[in-house]
Amino acid sequence: MNTLSEDLLISRRIGLSISTEDLDAAEVAETNRDTVGDYTVFDPKITARDVNVFYGTKQAICGVNLDLGNYEVLAMIGPSGCGKSTFLRCLNRMNDTIAECRVSGKIHLDGENIYHQNIDEVLLRARVGMVFQKPNPFPKSIFENVAYGPRLHGMTRDIGTLWDIVESSLRKAALWDEVKDILEQPGTSLSGGQQQRLCIARAISINPEVILMDEPCSALDPISTAKIEQLIDELREHYSIAIVTHSMQQAARVSQRTAYFHLGDLIEVGATNQIFSDPLHPLTEAYISGRFG
Ligand SMILES: Nc1ncnc2c1ncn2[C@@H]1O[C@H](COP(=O)(O)OP(=O)(O)OP(=O)(O)O)[C@@H](O)[C@H]1O
Ligand SMILES: [Mg+2]
Repeated sequence: MNTLSEDLLISRRIGLSISTEDLDAAEVAETNRDTVGDYTVFDPKITARDVNVFYGTKQAICGVNLDLGNYEVLAMIGPSGCGKSTFLRCLNRMNDTIAECRVSGKIHLDGENIYHQNIDEVLLRARVGMVFQKPNPFPKSIFENVAYGPRLHGMTRDIGTLWDIVESSLRKAALWDEVKDILEQPGTSLSGGQQQRLCIARAISINPEVILMDEPCSALDPISTAKIEQLIDELREHYSIAIVTHSMQQAARVSQRTAYFHLGDLIEVGATNQIFSDPLHPLTEAYISGRFG
């Protein structure tokens, strides 16, 4: 977690009054939108190079280069419609499920091209798990929600081992103490925040290497949000995490690096402290100071 003084610095910046010189559309169009900052990391888990995404003829992502490091949290921020979810979905080929969506460029996981024709998408999505905006437990018991993945992937046939996996996943998701006596109850009977932690336990149960989170707290109250943020900080010890968020305070609290997207371009990427205290690009500056978005 970032320090209180860092949070204060960021809040002060975010609290700046709205400028009367708001960037208008023409100004944005004329602004150079080449990526500012170093998009590479020393120890990458995922590398994305020259990634373009089209929905039909409409381009949603334009030539994006970005690394996700081992054991880091990378926050992706930017105005609505700028392509954050689209780019996130490229990282485990979830866009393949959208008929009119076409992805080009190179995305490697541990040096392996995930778009190669021999890649098994089900196995890929086991390695690169996803947590969505709205908690989406299966219509099954709490236990079965977490046991489903390990069973599907044939991780064990031994019921004792399965119980161990379920317990350790729920513990890692900071949910065990709240559900250990009600494991047979439906996942949907839990509160929204508990359901989201159940979905995180479900993602963890199949030993992913990367977890993608698309606005995982947007439907949650502040207490549940704080729990998920604490959890993200702990999960970083074992996983690489890319998180899309509309909350700049959340990006500041949970991430080490931040990427700012605008109209399909990756505008700026850098250390989270730097992005929020000393952004290099005028569009990043305008966004984090509340001039648009
Ligand atoms: N399934 C789809 N079919 C067609 N166009 C799409 C589809 N999904 C996204 N788009 C378009 O691609 C662009 C990027 O959308 P995306 O959902 O990635 O943005 P976002 O940054 O995640 O926005 P938000 O913050 O509102 O979630 C938008 O113009 C959107 O209309
Ligand atoms: Mg989105």
